[in-house]
Amino acid sequence: MDVIEAITNRRSINKLNQDAPPKELIEKILQAGNWAPTHHGTEPWRFYVITGDSRRKLGEVMANLRRAELGDPNSQESTIILESEAKKPLRAPVIIVVGVLPSDNPKVIEIEEFEAAGAAVQNMLLTAHSLGLGTKLRTGGAAYSGKVREFLGMNSRERILGFIYLGYSDAAPPTSSRGSVTEKTKWLS
Ligand SMILES: Cc1cc2nc3c(=O)[nH]c(=O)nc-3n(C[C@H](O)[C@H](O)[C@H](O)COP(=O)(O)O)c2cc1C
Repeated sequence: MDVIEAITNRRSINKLNQDAPPKELIEKILQAGNWAPTHHGTEPWRFYVITGDSRRKLGEVMANLRRAELGDPNSQESTIILESEAKKPLRAPVIIVVGVLPSDNPKVIEIEEFEAAGAAVQNMLLTAHSLGLGTKLRTGGAAYSGKVREFLGMNSRERILGFIYLGYSDAAPPTSSRGSVTEKTKWLS
């Protein structure tokens, strides 16, 4: 698939089925992430591949986070909210959590480490698309939670950039649009 075609036609896929993508395809996607540009060669991206029962365990961690925010966690309404939260990671057969571990080299500008990991995410979304797989990048409270970082066994300086939900879709991809690039661009000549 042509790269411009992949960039333009990639869509966030909300509904993925439970068919597990072969490990070789997941590895290709991880390799694509690993080829992202990196200033000072720090390669700050880290990947956590969550499949099978680990998704349920992640859901438990996410429901516990939500529980702490609810007034009466035992009410019927709270029970519904918590059950729904616990099921969220089951929406895809595979979740790749992309972490960033910024280098402690004083020469390195921290925001550049996040830029590099963001490029890794896009490489992975495009590669998945070119392999016939659907993805949805998600963040939400779980992406900023110490409890989730602990569950993943992250380094204390590491942060979560997002959760790539990965799988196959039975439905036609949704449409999407962007505003004019001209309005976002200034040419200086
Ligand atoms: C950093 C980041 C975080 C995102 N988090 C969420 C999210 O938590 N939930 C969600 O439904 N979509 C999330 N998205 C996906 C966007 O909603 C999606 O990219 C947007 O609707 C455009 O659709 P497209 O990707 O199909 O072009 C996120 C996207 C980015 C870049």
